[in-house]
Amino acid sequence: MALVSTKQILEEARNKGYGVGAYNVNNMEQIQAIMTAAKETQSPVIIQASRGALKYSSFTYLESLMKAAVIENPDIPVAVHLDHGNSLESVVKAINLGFSSVMIDGSLLEDGKTASTYDYNVNVTCSVVKYAHAKGVSVEAEIGTLGGSEDGVGSGKINLTDPKEARRFVSETGIDSLAIAIGTSHGAYKFKGSANLAFDVLKKIRSLIDIPIVLHGASSVPKELTDEVNKYGGRMPAGATGVPISSLQEAIKLGVSKINVDTDGRLAITATIRKVFAEAPEKFDPRDYLGLARTVLTNLIITKMKDFGTAGHAKDYSPISLEDMKKQYASKY
Ligand code: G3H
Ligand code: 13P
Ligand code: ZN
Repeated sequence: MALVSTKQILEEARNKGYGVGAYNVNNMEQIQAIMTAAKETQSPVIIQASRGALKYSSFTYLESLMKAAVIENPDIPVAVHLDHGNSLESVVKAINLGFSSVMIDGSLLEDGKTASTYDYNVNVTCSVVKYAHAKGVSVEAEIGTLGGSEDGVGSGKINLTDPKEARRFVSETGIDSLAIAIGTSHGAYKFKGSANLAFDVLKKIRSLIDIPIVLHGASSVPKELTDEVNKYGGRMPAGATGVPISSLQEAIKLGVSKINVDTDGRLAITATIRKVFAEAPEKFDPRDYLGLARTVLTNLIITKMKDFGTAGHAKDYSPISLEDMKKQYASKY
């Protein structure tokens, strides 16, 4: 079994200069698509579940599916990660489910909407680091806030990360990776005009901190997919935009190691299902449309794994177990 921490996956990626996608999941088909893509391209991978995803699946269903992904793919390094944990309690729950990595998003208050203070963020992050590291689990935290709002995650206002504050935050908390705000937003409407990322801020942060950097809100929102959704009866308002792949590749070059993708997967699934319903309205076996959506999603992720440079790196290293991570963390304190 190759369940590993995101610390190992991201440090390896950082050393070799490639990015690793962290793909959000809610159901079996998404998990299977990610793992098929990882196997096909021989990529290490991060599968992540939000609090909303865990609630949607009554926790244990998704837990078992994520464990199945690890069991079925013993040769692929897989991290199972909690996305946007909002409290120590949510993190404890994920760790008890067997997650190897957690995010505590203390840039927002527990409601997941209201921007918090620096001190609040440090306090909640430190409590999570203490708990998680004692279990060998790695911790991602965030400083600065993204735009957009997905299912209650996000304040809606962008507040770019202050590089000096980022340095202080990393040294005061002992986290393993840092999510930063450089102009991205969650969801399908990221930019008013063309994509505009604050690469100067990223460069400055990279020069001041020495842990892997995470980019949330990194879907590319391909026009073919939004067009297809609308062509087959969807009503996505005009103006959907994402982060172009060239910008993500530039961000990877400048030091981003983890790239969070949820929206693109949602679009691929919705476009495919709409197409099947429109073109073959006689079909009513869920496997006819969920199976095809799974294939389309697999191909989308294969392309991302190649574009981010993750492909071919699955066998570069021997997985470090959480038990050994526990010892590594213990020797640090
Ligand atoms: O960051 C937000 C992710 O896209 C997860 O969204 O809370 O709707 O599952 P969700
Ligand atoms: P997207 O909405 O751009 O896919 O971002 C997902 C994300 O950041 C999950 O944490
Ligand atoms: Zn996010």
